[in-house]
Amino acid sequence: MIRVFSRPIPLILALAFCTFIPVMLAAVRVVQIPLGAVPEDSLRLTSVPTAYFLHAVAGSLFGFLGPLQFVRALRRHFGTLHRLTGRIFVLAGVGLALSGLALLLQVESIATGLLDAARGVFGLVLIAALTLGVVAARAHATLRHRAWMIRAYAVGMGQGTVALILFPVYLINGEPPTGLSTDIAVVGTWLLAIAMGEWVVRRLASFNRRSPSAP
Ligand code: HEM
Repeated sequence: MIRVFSRPIPLILALAFCTFIPVMLAAVRVVQIPLGAVPEDSLRLTSVPTAYFLHAVAGSLFGFLGPLQFVRALRRHFGTLHRLTGRIFVLAGVGLALSGLALLLQVESIATGLLDAARGVFGLVLIAALTLGVVAARAHATLRHRAWMIRAYAVGMGQGTVALILFPVYLINGEPPTGLSTDIAVVGTWLLAIAMGEWVVRRLASFNRRSPSAP
């Protein structure tokens, strides 16, 4: 499986499939927030317009650039571009976490304490993982750098993957699914994405021990 996902097209397709709904939603909000055309369900978030807009911009960039940063062929052949887009990815990730925490603290929540606690914890974990990834890159510790960036991506995007289930429910019911069972599904999917990220990190490490020449 690791070999399949080390090929660019399956890797990009798999990550894009899991994350296209939150990334598209964030990109749509980037246009809607300045136009004042936010749907009624989300109007309460416009009370903190800067954090809301930054969150949407950062989410779009983080979600779009993440899969590309993990493509080995792009890293190998376009190293300078990888470093440039990597800086944008890190800034977007930090902006995503800080604006997410600002939304959490400044807007009255409609979620349960469980989801709000997860958002607070994972927002801080995202900043920590990105910091450790940058420190490793500066130390030219490539494997450690890759491991922390995979973890950061899983923590940042993990919450969004549940949209594959919840978005169709929203379309059918006409209102966003809320309540304890929804939040358990969101946090459960988030933890699953983080566990999968960790699994990939470990598989890549053992693959690398067996084939040390692989980048
Ligand atoms: C650790 C990561 C993240 C944290 C802590 C976080 C936190 C939050 C919080 C607290 C809200 C407000 C929720 C509400 O009260 O309705 C929110 C909304 C939102 N988030 Fe995130 N978020 C994270 C990751 C992401 C990612 C990766 C994306 C996109 C790819 C994203 C896109 C959005 C969008 C578009 C909204 C607004 C939804 C709407 O307009 O109703 N978030 N986020």
